[in-house]
Amino acid sequence: MRRYSADGLEVEIYDDSNGMIEAAAARLFEQARSKTDSILGLATGSTFLPFYGYVAAHYSVEGVSFRKVTTFNLDEYYPIKATSPDSYHTYMNRNLFSRVDLNPANTHLPDGEAPDAAVEAVAYERLIQESGGIDLQFLGLGRNGHIGFNEPGTAPDSRTHQTALSESTIAANSALFVDPGKMPRHALTMGIGTIMEARSLVLLASGKSKAEAVAASLKGEVSAQVPASFLRRHGRAVFMLDREAAAGIA
Ligand code: GLP
Repeated sequence: MRRYSADGLEVEIYDDSNGMIEAAAARLFEQARSKTDSILGLATGSTFLPFYGYVAAHYSVEGVSFRKVTTFNLDEYYPIKATSPDSYHTYMNRNLFSRVDLNPANTHLPDGEAPDAAVEAVAYERLIQESGGIDLQFLGLGRNGHIGFNEPGTAPDSRTHQTALSESTIAANSALFVDPGKMPRHALTMGIGTIMEARSLVLLASGKSKAEAVAASLKGEVSAQVPASFLRRHGRAVFMLDREAAAGIA
């Protein structure tokens, strides 16, 4: 692994995505061991499939319990039924919640069935604040530099809100839908301001499709055009990358 700092942000480059996943899981285990009632921020997407697989397979031998842990996911499509095979509720239940000892009552995602998206966004934001705030937030990276579903142009002080998905995100994510034509065009997402309040942040990116977004986030201007670039202002954020995702910076 190679490590360097850029603009107060730590960057770790692993030979392959397995190394990246194991090291990210080690950070999660360490967090859960040192504070058993940690508040975790969780992400979805294909990058996190092997991560949750690894966490579920190893947490108990690592002496970790999630019994007192609370989780908040970054985002959910809107509108979508929680029971839809394509919802992030289903993704999280299938890949993590049903496979570890988390208390289901302590797991939270924005409600894609809420009758009023604006009301739900305010309620979700309040729930995060009332929990005491997120200790460790995991993030993926969109091909266009988005974090959560904060598409290019989102304000750095944004809170949880309804957002319109960009064409690039619709193209990338519809491939994962059972019926790609039925992918919702909107989502509820924590805002960039919400994400930046997490006490520490771990962004994972693997594969060459992320190389351009990684380079733009780390080497370009800090700008709303590349939402992940704001992480350079956080102070306790790390980008964990595999070699392919780091191709544009190393
Ligand atoms: C989605 C999610 C993001 C995720 C990103 C990357 O749009 N809302 O939270 O980080 O995609 O996903 P993937 O890992 O599938 O490339």
